[in-house]
Amino acid sequence: MKIGIIGTGNVGGAIARGLRGKGHSVTLGARDLDGAEVQRLAQQADAVLALPDVAARGAEIVVLALPWGVAEAAVAALGDLTGKIVVDCMNPIGRGPAGLQLLVGHSTSGGEIVQSWLPGARVVKTLNQVGAEMMADNHHLAHRPVMFMAGDDAEAKGAVGQMLTDMGFEALDAGGIALSRLLEPLGLVWINQALVRGKGRNWAFAAIS
Ligand SMILES: NC(=O)c1ccc[n+]([C@@H]2O[C@H](COP(=O)([O-])OP(=O)(O)OC[C@H]3O[C@@H](n4cnc5c(N)ncnc54)[C@H](OP(=O)(O)O)[C@@H]3O)[C@@H](O)[C@H]2O)c1
Repeated sequence: MKIGIIGTGNVGGAIARGLRGKGHSVTLGARDLDGAEVQRLAQQADAVLALPDVAARGAEIVVLALPWGVAEAAVAALGDLTGKIVVDCMNPIGRGPAGLQLLVGHSTSGGEIVQSWLPGARVVKTLNQVGAEMMADNHHLAHRPVMFMAGDDAEAKGAVGQMLTDMGFEALDAGGIALSRLLEPLGLVWINQALVRGKGRNWAFAAIS
């Protein structure tokens, strides 16, 4: 598939690395095409570099790997995404009195809000449930890690599921986009374990039987 990754930080970079050599055509959407780091990433991931709107225009799957606080304006600047599959990896989190917390939920979610910004696009919430490192490479784990998806379009989830499989995950369909209400708290469980409770970042959820 033609995949445009908007945001080339921890998550965007890890997804690009995880997709290297898997038969996809990856374009990194970056604001500064001359930056040394993004150029190095493009080389490592065997990806093309473009401005964010150009990367989105040419893509079948547009991956949003942006900080939640800038997402609405950044998504609006991408142009018309009608008909495209949009992967929302973002966790709407910020610091509150009790540390990191969800900024939206539990009666709505970031995934539903992104879908409301893009009514003509097919949004799939996923890749928000583990740390970026697990997206770049998870083959050393004892079990195949699971990655849930939430979205209203079955065909979109089929395509994204294949992308997740290519990245080493067991892709599981959680249900419609409203199920993002459960997947975003799950992302926070991972963050809390990794960063607050001392488990570190080298682990993921698995669905074993
Ligand atoms: N880090 C994790 O392990 C992890 C795991 C799962 C989900 N997430 C979620 O994934 C999202 C990204 O996290 P991250 O850790 O990758 O963040 P990050 O390292 O800070 O990267 C954010 C990227 O967004 C770009 N960006 C910022 N404003 C932009 C705009 N207006 N237009 C286009 N690009 C813009 C930045 O570009 P510049 O370099 O030009 O500033 C940067 O490449 C967050 O919502 C986070 O909750 C993170």
